[in-house]
Amino acid sequence: MSASVPGDYVIRSIRADEWPAVKELRLRALRDPLAHLAYLETYDDAAARPDSFWQERAAGGAEGASGAQQIVAEGPGGLWLGTLTVLVEEAGTTDWAGFPVARTQGHVVGVFVRSEWRGSGLTKALFAAGLEWAWANGAERARLIVHPDNARAQGAYRNAGFVPSGRTVPLVVGPGDHELEFVLER
Ligand SMILES: CC(C)(COP(=O)(O)OP(=O)(O)OC[C@H]1O[C@@H](n2cnc3c(N)ncnc32)[C@H](O)[C@@H]1OP(=O)(O)O)[C@@H](O)C(=O)NCCC(=O)NCCS
Repeated sequence: MSASVPGDYVIRSIRADEWPAVKELRLRALRDPLAHLAYLETYDDAAARPDSFWQERAAGGAEGASGAQQIVAEGPGGLWLGTLTVLVEEAGTTDWAGFPVARTQGHVVGVFVRSEWRGSGLTKALFAAGLEWAWANGAERARLIVHPDNARAQGAYRNAGFVPSGRTVPLVVGPGDHELEFVLER
């Protein structure tokens, strides 16, 4: 995808050789106070993964990859300020929770913005780029899963045009927990 420059940062897809930065930003995200609501893995689990894991993750979401795309906002000095990843879920497959995928869709995961950049519009810019990539790669809708107690994330997703679908997904964080599906029709 082409880079755009809204303010002091560039929004772009990652490159496969940038796996150390992928790892650094993910570990930063997993130290967020809301990480237990936001992500499905722990800091300790992620920190223990071998370099090959991060190399494969970066290659799988790099510019030119077809099934996934990791988008970052790169600030002055090359620091990554925020990220999200879009996974293409093809029509006719079954998603990770066991539900059928009726129409090809982009599933947005791994959303994180460094705290000093929250509320700046950067999150919306990441979504604009992620959705552009999803539409260009055959998605007819986009969706994401968010915890009911993660009110700020829900606000950000509404700002990006997502609305609750009414579906809940049984998950993960503790017994009886569920998460909410938000969707955006193309
Ligand atoms: C989720 C995240 C990416 C959102 O980015 P952001 O820059 O903070 O989001 P924005 O400021 O654009 O939008 C948040 C909206 O929710 C509102 N909001 C903030 N805190 C809120 C709260 N406690 N309750 C309700 N709304 C809240 C904001 O006012 C804003 O709405 P507005 O633009 O209408 O004022 C960022 O906060 C983050 O990285 N959080 C930690 C990790 C995380 O939770 N990731 C999501 C996993 S599902």
